[in-house]
Amino acid sequence: MPNDDHRDERDLNGSPSGPDATRAAKDAGPFRSAEWFAREGKYGFIPRSWMKSQGFGPELFDGRPVIGICNTWSELTSCNRHLRELAEHVKRGILMAGGFPLEFPVMSLGEPLMRPTTMMFRNLVAMDVEETIRANPIDGVVLLAGCDKTTPALLMGAASCDIPSILVSGGPMLNGRFRGRELGSGTDVFRLDEEYRTGQMTREELGDAEAAMSRSAGSCMTMGTASTMAQLGEAMGIALPMNGSIPAADSRRAVLAERSGARIVELVKQGITISQILTRAAFENGVKANGAIGGSTNAVVHLLALAGRLGVEFSLEDWDTLGRNVPTLVDLKPSGRFLMEEFFDAGGLPVVMRRISEKLRLEAPVVEGGTIGQRIANAVSYDDEVIRTRDNPLTEEGGIMVLKGNLAPNGAIIKPSAATPRLMQHRGKAVVFKDADDFRTRIDDPDLDVDADSILVLQNVGPRGYPGMPEIGSMALPKKLLTQGVTDMVRISDARMSGTAYGTVLLHVAPESAIGGPLGLVRSGDMIRIDAAGRSLELEVSEAELATRRAAWVQPAAAHDRGYGKLFIDHVTQADKGADFDFLAGKSGTPPSKVSF
Ligand code: FES
Repeated sequence: MPNDDHRDERDLNGSPSGPDATRAAKDAGPFRSAEWFAREGKYGFIPRSWMKSQGFGPELFDGRPVIGICNTWSELTSCNRHLRELAEHVKRGILMAGGFPLEFPVMSLGEPLMRPTTMMFRNLVAMDVEETIRANPIDGVVLLAGCDKTTPALLMGAASCDIPSILVSGGPMLNGRFRGRELGSGTDVFRLDEEYRTGQMTREELGDAEAAMSRSAGSCMTMGTASTMAQLGEAMGIALPMNGSIPAADSRRAVLAERSGARIVELVKQGITISQILTRAAFENGVKANGAIGGSTNAVVHLLALAGRLGVEFSLEDWDTLGRNVPTLVDLKPSGRFLMEEFFDAGGLPVVMRRISEKLRLEAPVVEGGTIGQRIANAVSYDDEVIRTRDNPLTEEGGIMVLKGNLAPNGAIIKPSAATPRLMQHRGKAVVFKDADDFRTRIDDPDLDVDADSILVLQNVGPRGYPGMPEIGSMALPKKLLTQGVTDMVRISDARMSGTAYGTVLLHVAPESAIGGPLGLVRSGDMIRIDAAGRSLELEVSEAELATRRAAWVQPAAAHDRGYGKLFIDHVTQADKGADFDFLAGKSGTPPSKVSF
């Protein structure tokens, strides 16, 4: 039996708690919140009095750190529906350590319901988080996130304030089970949809599968974007060990939440802010961990945006160079076979990171104190089928590849572990769809001029074009090819794809077609050459012909002329910069602000 199970008390416990911590916290300070609660006269009376109206006793205003619990709970975000309950465990940890917890809501982003795409609102939530923290007496923050965009949004907002922060994820939902087989969130939806479209499954059977796939609170239990971002939070040290993989329904998730609550009090006392954890070394570890877990392509834009908030030098090219020669070891859907419950049981991320430890920046700090190297030093695998060994990887090249060429001057990305190897070097005839509606209208047309070697090209679905670069880059294959047994084709767009999707899919083409990028100049019948090994993506059309097309190109009308939609279109950056707002780059901290009464 292994004697160093990293899920035991020692390793999950990142900090002292109880009386010692309480005493230490009370002795520290003064904290930022003292500007509100420690003031004399009416300036202190008003904030204290109105807070006491909630039943808070006077001892909570004795100078102890105020910890915000930033909650993305919402009944519109089913993945995060348990976060109200989880917040109570965080509060208990904060109180045990001598802090004063104050929970606050921010806008939530639920993938299954929001239109046109949650990505359009990630930056809005980040602004909500940033401004709420800055405007209130908050000394440190626990970020409660789960569904895909909630994690990067909360980290970005906290990063802009640069206060002590800890991420607590909601955890993955239980594995889906349907008629004796496992169903993976998202990943198996694509397969079930193909079975239904080709008549292998009835509508009633599909309805039964709907109820069997998502059977508990928590985020998608494949290695989709939510799992990826939770894992990367752990890999980058801003969350406690095992944050990414303990199932939502497992009591150990509540224990982790409690310990995170205790730990944030210590971080405030020590003055350790988010930028001291999320250093360049953390981003390097994030890229490498993403390759080893077979993580989502969405991590690319999220980490680029987060780095931009922190002022960390980190580029799209880093994704390619740092990710080279990182094998994918985690055999989870969509790249592999298993689901998050098995990953947790197998030992989770510390095992993965230990197995690629020579590639990591082991000196990177972590929120529980010490370094990532110390955290993972004794991690033990309990299942080498789920977390493979270095001599038996799922794929040798797990990192995100960045391809450039005349079709994508500023880059396009592909996830090799989800692609078909023979299609990574490919030349084919373009079948172009001018937007998402055009695609939906024509893809199943029996007369569509397409074969298995064709390359599907989707235009005007980028950050400004759609807007919000939705997850439609993994276009469904034409029905007539599916019935012939075709399972993958090369697909190119300026959109994103779901972290649960798979296929030989080139994404995030920059600059996007809607602002005049070359993708918008492609016509059906053009030849396109992909050389993933050589990192090139070329449209085999002469420069003279492209110049003619460019001169005739008409920019599509913007989808919004007022409100948040217009703000988004006017200020969103391209995918290679993280699709953040141009005016939000760089952290501005929490400088003292004016008192209005
Ligand atoms: Fe919420 Fe997948 S839909 S995590």
